[in-house]
Amino acid sequence: MGNNTFGIDLGTSNIKIYNKATDSITVEKNLIAVENKTSLLAYGNSAYDMYEKAPSNIKISYPLSNGVIADIEHMKNLVKLFITDEMKGALKPLDFYIAVPKDVTEVERRAFHDLIRESGVKAKKIMMVKKPVADGLGMGVDVMNSQGVLVVNVGYDTTEISILSLKGIVISKLIKVGGKKFDDAIRGVIRKEFSLLIGEKTAENIKMSLKDLEKAGKDAVVYGRDIVTGLPVERSIPTDLIDQSLIEYFDQILDNIKATLERTPPELAADIYKHGLYLTGGASQVCHLAQRLSNGVGLNVNLAENPIGSVALGLSKIIKDDQYKNLAYSVEEDV
Ligand SMILES: Nc1ncnc2c1ncn2[C@@H]1O[C@H](COP(=O)(O)OP(=O)(O)OP(=O)(O)O)[C@@H](O)[C@H]1O
Ligand SMILES: [Mg+2]
Repeated sequence: MGNNTFGIDLGTSNIKIYNKATDSITVEKNLIAVENKTSLLAYGNSAYDMYEKAPSNIKISYPLSNGVIADIEHMKNLVKLFITDEMKGALKPLDFYIAVPKDVTEVERRAFHDLIRESGVKAKKIMMVKKPVADGLGMGVDVMNSQGVLVVNVGYDTTEISILSLKGIVISKLIKVGGKKFDDAIRGVIRKEFSLLIGEKTAENIKMSLKDLEKAGKDAVVYGRDIVTGLPVERSIPTDLIDQSLIEYFDQILDNIKATLERTPPELAADIYKHGLYLTGGASQVCHLAQRLSNGVGLNVNLAENPIGSVALGLSKIIKDDQYKNLAYSVEEDV
């Protein structure tokens, strides 16, 4: 039997790891908790449990920022820890397929390759795959033959807007809008209108429960600290106030999709019209976003079945199915 193979989608908030041996995708928070500057306290989802609650000698940080590696040492540690967990402790030689964003510098792309090489996971082969291509494949797009496919991935720090055609990427744009900006907007409006300070996790929970609350016609009940009295309080926040606070960011995504479409060669536009927009990424699930994008560009929207895992799912297809092997390339071939 050959080496075991892993596919990795390194997101700013979640790392997604496809393990060929188990044919499954693991999703963990891309977070590390370090105590007294040096000793590892927790990582992944258990570091997230401590987030915003830890004393000041415990530093909990995301090693990725805006889709690129910002803290290489912590990221290397995390890759080694996650892969060791997947291997149940036994580190044998392994092959890796790593998804890399398109609209970043060559140095930033190469850093994803070097990260795996230097993280101590015994990498025999390291292949790169363009993230939007893996994303399209993961959503069931026939990336080998389709011409003109619009893929929009709304993640945590970033949204990646890409036009795919015949195995490649015609245009790709990475903008700094995603779930984090949505959370910040929610915190901002609650602070302004209710003089209430809430944490990032509380804001994220509101964002994720918006659809259900609106369906049930309920307000969001939140706990936080009153700015004036300094005391902990509970407040009911109308969901339409929250919706309004998000529109600014929805429209930034929309404007960038429009600008991308304007740069698209006309021959591809007809196909994009036929196929519609492929929408994915965890934060694409936020209430009203799909509808606003659909109305704004006049396209049907295809929603990903697994918005958080679509890139990793695409990697799994490339790893398993030989017909897709040309979608992966080595660092020397990176252009
Ligand atoms: N049901 C939901 N509704 C709204 N937002 C959600 C939902 N589930 C997850 N999210 C948001 O999705 C985001 C994480 O998505 P994802 O894992 O695709 O990002 P990432 O890949 O880590 O980030 P990036 O692509 O920017 O590097 C978070 O902001 C999270 O709050
Ligand atoms: Mg992502």
